[in-house]
Amino acid sequence: MSVRVSFIKNYSKNKKLLVVLLDDSLKLYGDILSIDKKSKGIISRAIRNKSFAGKNKETLSFLTLNITNVVEIILYGIGSSANLDEDKIERIGGNLFSIIPDKIKNMAITLKSFKSLNVSDVDFAIHLAQGFCLRSYSFNKYKSKSKPKFVSDLQSLEVIVDNPNVVKNKYVALNALKDGVFLTRNLVSEPPNILNPITLSKEVLKLRNEGIEVQVLNLTQIKKLKMGALIGVAQGSNNEPRLVTMRWRANKKSKSKPDICFVGKGVTFDTGGISIKQSNGMEDMKYDMAGAGVVIGLMKALAKRKAKVDVCAVVGLVENMPSGKAQRPSDVVTSFSGHTIEVINTDAEGRLVLADAVSYGIKKFNPKKLIDLATLTGAVIVTLGNKRAGLFSNDDDLANNISYAGEKTGEKLWRLPVGPEYDEDIKSEIADMKNVGSGRGAGSTAGAKFIQQFVSDIPWAHIDIAGVTWSKSNSDLFPSGATAFGVRMLNSYVKKFLEKTKK
Ligand code: BES
Ligand code: ZN
Ligand code: ZN
Repeated sequence: MSVRVSFIKNYSKNKKLLVVLLDDSLKLYGDILSIDKKSKGIISRAIRNKSFAGKNKETLSFLTLNITNVVEIILYGIGSSANLDEDKIERIGGNLFSIIPDKIKNMAITLKSFKSLNVSDVDFAIHLAQGFCLRSYSFNKYKSKSKPKFVSDLQSLEVIVDNPNVVKNKYVALNALKDGVFLTRNLVSEPPNILNPITLSKEVLKLRNEGIEVQVLNLTQIKKLKMGALIGVAQGSNNEPRLVTMRWRANKKSKSKPDICFVGKGVTFDTGGISIKQSNGMEDMKYDMAGAGVVIGLMKALAKRKAKVDVCAVVGLVENMPSGKAQRPSDVVTSFSGHTIEVINTDAEGRLVLADAVSYGIKKFNPKKLIDLATLTGAVIVTLGNKRAGLFSNDDDLANNISYAGEKTGEKLWRLPVGPEYDEDIKSEIADMKNVGSGRGAGSTAGAKFIQQFVSDIPWAHIDIAGVTWSKSNSDLFPSGATAFGVRMLNSYVKKFLEKTKK
């Protein structure tokens, strides 16, 4: 469940908790100044007596003895209020959530007392609330006993602002984005006995309610289309694969090409297949569908906020299992595009799924650009750890624009090479290509190089999210677990570079 946010002019009476943001100038304004005066300096005295300096993340809480209709006040420091931007403000909101005592059910935060130097009051309010909500996520549906300790009781947040109606209007789009992020986190968190290709495809069908066109291809249809690469991965599993396409267009009558196609790797569990993984850590492979999860959440966000774009998407949903029917290392398969592939390692399955999903997306929709997302390689974790995702692209403009959106949202990328100097890495003796590199390192590039074979020549970017999609520790904007890395970054990319703005 997520926190209900409302924006109002004056807090409703008898709030348990009022949060007051203070920067390191410690200046009290408006509302807070008058509370302070009326209460004989309850706030200024607390600041002085406890040497509160307003440093980032500094907190000071005290009981008010009902002087101001609130039981408790928390002063929350944000450091310098110069050079704030959307990302910084969201992180302040997220960190603020993390210090709210678990038992609090409802609270207020006043922004009337706060002046940011380079961000408007409206933007400050919506991004603060957004960060707070993003951090408040929890996935606890499988806890059968009493509520787990780490889940907060907080149900509602009142944000006190000067112009609530303007703020509310502008918050609608961010709330839609949050819904998309939470959908992605929910999907990625589901265990693989619940979320398989079929159940995941049913989740996507629900997006029809948002005005998204959804089509699900079943095994018979996939076979008819001769998607040999995707089928090869799926054939070891008792759970049938699905290929799902989506389209969101603001103008349903538009006859032009989609602005972009998003493609996601949706391996609902990756055992490695016959090239089986070691058991230690294999449980992590439930999140091997995160590329698809991000694409699905992103589509929901775009539709919910009625983005003025024409966007299509494809997710390839399979389970990679070993069995008597599973594909073998050295099998040769023929992809939807007609290219033949020697399967050297059945654990390099994501690129096989993407090969068919990417070429199908291009054939069906003829998009202007294409971005694929995948938890593709362990090698990208060696290269970039869990701070940045790997970016590979055949187009500098596209790469620069996505990178910009990454810096803006804090979902950062780092570009890695995929040039012709790596062509020979995936050459095969027997087929058009093989599904792994030649053991000379650059494992993530080999994966990208492979996908590139299916992209024709439109601007394309591949984002390897293996290291960033799941976090073992809490962060400013998410608790440990599924991060939904990519949804906010790509939403921002669409907004800045693809949306037709009203003229
Ligand atoms: N799903 C994995 C990649 C992965 C590893 C994602 C760790 C998240 C965390 C992928 O299918 C895989 O197994 N890749 C192999 C490729 C290799 C066989 C060329 C890898 O990275 O080891
Ligand atoms: Zn694998
Ligand atoms: Zn995988």
